[in-house]
Formats: sequence, structure tokens, C-alpha cells
Amino acid sequence: MAVGGSRRGDRSRAGLLVLIVAVLQAACPAEALENGLARTPPMGWLHWERFLCQIDCSHDPRQCISEKLFMQMADLMVSEGWRDVGYQYLCIDDCWMAPSRDEQGRLQPDPKRFPSGIAKLADYVHSKGLKLGIYADVGNKTCAGFPGSYGYYELDAQTFASWGVDLLKFDGCNCNTLELLAEGYKTMSRALNKTGRSIVYSCEWPLYQRILQKPNYTEIKQYCNYWRNFADIYDAWNSVKNVLDWTSHNQEDITDVAGPGGWNDPDMLVIGNFGLSWDQQITQMALWAMMAAPLLMSNDLRHISSASKALLQNKEVIAINQDSLGKQGYQITEEDGFELWERPLSGGAYAIAIVNRQEIGGPQTYKFSLAFLGSGLACNPACSVQQILPTSRNLGLQNWVSFLKVLVNPTGTVLLKTVVI
Ligand code: GLA
Repeated sequence: MAVGGSRRGDRSRAGLLVLIVAVLQAACPAEALENGLARTPPMGWLHWERFLCQIDCSHDPRQCISEKLFMQMADLMVSEGWRDVGYQYLCIDDCWMAPSRDEQGRLQPDPKRFPSGIAKLADYVHSKGLKLGIYADVGNKTCAGFPGSYGYYELDAQTFASWGVDLLKFDGCNCNTLELLAEGYKTMSRALNKTGRSIVYSCEWPLYQRILQKPNYTEIKQYCNYWRNFADIYDAWNSVKNVLDWTSHNQEDITDVAGPGGWNDPDMLVIGNFGLSWDQQITQMALWAMMAAPLLMSNDLRHISSASKALLQNKEVIAINQDSLGKQGYQITEEDGFELWERPLSGGAYAIAIVNRQEIGGPQTYKFSLAFLGSGLACNPACSVQQILPTSRNLGLQNWVSFLKVLVNPTGTVLLKTVVI
């Protein structure tokens, strides 16, 4: 074959390739960070909401942030069945560090509270079949005032990798400009990848950016495995409500970007603590499953009611959260004090959540048409319907023109799954 002919062939093949790539880029959702991690939303335990920054171990040794606390939680994650239903990451939040770096500039744990060091703790956690998460901050200091990673991104990434850390929550306090914030989050992402260790990367980039600038989620997903958008959760219905309202009001901007490798993070599950009624705990669990949220509990696994434990370990709810299609659910209507949410699942199934937002009176009936769901496809021509929460029960075979009626407690949720037939 003539050389010229071959070159012309190469050129047209190259042109075709460029065209295919352009079409694929336009058609495909945002590309995920290429570390192969968080193909489904990460699950685990994170100390912050329940244990905050308690650093005085002489005052209350069972509550302070120490290696003992994490070893106890690791033991319970195994013995109480948490690991076996998917809660895998045991995550340290702020306040684990010593007030200054060591002579080589490396972060170091507080020597009194973590006398064995983080590498030893990671070994312990790994020996239990779990993974260890740690916390650091993109700015000059963490939110609680411990050393920040600014100027040390490479070194900190290497330190975490050398300790055997599996997840980094990277906070955004004390960063002087939006440019430094963005650059810091990106640099840490590259630095983690460069270590060669698989480290899930949790960001708060859009939360800190949003105050001044609209986040670019396509870009954020290229650097982070999950990201916080909204204020810190606390142990109260008001807080869970605020997260849900923020999410539904902003769903146009945040829902489509979520998928395998990158997730919106509405913050920790506070189920099993003090502030939520039983129905509100059901709402948090159901809606975190609908939102394809990371399931990071912040509670005391040493003291948790059997009801809260069963809710957090409900395999059908977890299966919705972990669905392999990886599409985040969204609110489809809000009327007469009820919210109706749907989440497309693999195999043409749908998860449906009906939230009763009324805070007065008793249980209320909500009636809706199945033709309304999945743009008319969820139950077309027919489907089986399973109620998952508050209790498991079979709602039988339905068809496209069926209406369903459910009774929902104030601030509670009924969670259903439809499977098309
Ligand atoms: C910020 C984060 C919280 C927690 C604290 C720790 O407020 O959003 O999740 O990590 O810092 O100081």
C-alpha cells in the first residue's frame, strides 16, 4: 500500500475517533476520578457528629478521640454485624493530630491519645477486615485549629499512604482564596493518586466554594469520590429537614453528576443518637438511600438500640443505596405536606419514598397513581410493589393505572420498591 494512502487513512480514522470521543463526551455523565474507588457510595462510621473534638481523656476516657475509641468501634463493627452488611470504613475526623508537625514536617497524631501511632491503628483495623479513614484540611489549619495541609499536600498524602490509610476526608477551613481552595483540592487528589495506594478522597470543596461561586460539579467529580454541599448535620429533625430541603431545591444542579466513582454527600447518619424520633430515623435512612449518599454513621456503637441497629442494617434499604446503576434519586412532587421521591434502580426497578412533612396530627393517607412514576415507565404495563420501610410487606401486583394508598406518620417515610413485569 502506498505510504500516502495509509496516511490519509490514518487521518480519517483519527478524525472519526475525535468525533466519537466528542459524541461520547456529550452523551455521557461527568467522568469520575480515575482511582477506581467508590463505585457505590462508601459505607462506614465517622466520629464527628457524636464525638466532636473531645481531647480531654482524663475527664471522660470513653468519649475522647483516642485510638481506644477507634479500636472499640472496629471490634463492634465486626462483632455486631456492621461490616458484614457493608459498613467498611472506620473514619477519624478532626482533632486526632498533635498541635504541631514533627521535625521532618510530617503530621503526627497526639501522642497521649494515639500512643501506638496511626500505622498501628491501621494494621488493627485492617486485621478486622475494615478500612481506615483519616481527616485533614486544605488550608492553614483544620476547622478545630490543628495543622493544615497547605504547603504540605505531597508530604501529607505520602504520610497517609505510608500509614496504610484508605480514605481521606479533606476539609476546607482556613483557606484564603477560592483559587487556593480549588488548587488545593486538585493537588491533594493528584498527590493521593501518585502514592499508588487506593485512598478514597472525600471533599468539602463545593460547600466552601458555594458561598461565593457556583461549583462546577463536572470538575469536582474528576477529583473527588464524594463531596459535601451543605452545612454540618446535627442530631435533630431540623437539621435532617434542612439537608432534604436543600437537596430538593438544588436537585437540578447536583443529581445528574452523581454516579459510580463520585457522590453527593449529605453528611453523616445520626440514627441511634438522641435527637430523632423513630419516624425521623426512618426518614433519614430512607432518604439517604434515595440520595445515593455515603452511609457514614456517627453514633456510639457501644450504646445503640436494637431498633436503630436493625434500621441501619436493613439489607433491602442498603441494597437501594448501593444499587449498581448509581443514579441519585430526586423529588418529583411536593403537595399537601407530602413529598414524593423516586430513584431509578438497575433492571428497570424504582425506589419510591413518600415523606409526610406535617408535624401536627396523626398518620395521614397519601394516594398516588403509579402512572406518575419513572415518567410513566416504572409500572408499565405492570409491576410488583414491595414496601420496605417502616415495615417489610408485599403490596402485590399492580398495573399502570393502579393507584396506591399509603399511611405515613408525621415526619415519617414509607419506602417502596417497584419491579416492572
Ligand atoms: C467541618 C466539617 C465537619 C467536621 C468539622 C471538624 O465543620 O464540615 O464535618 O469535619 O469541620 O472540625
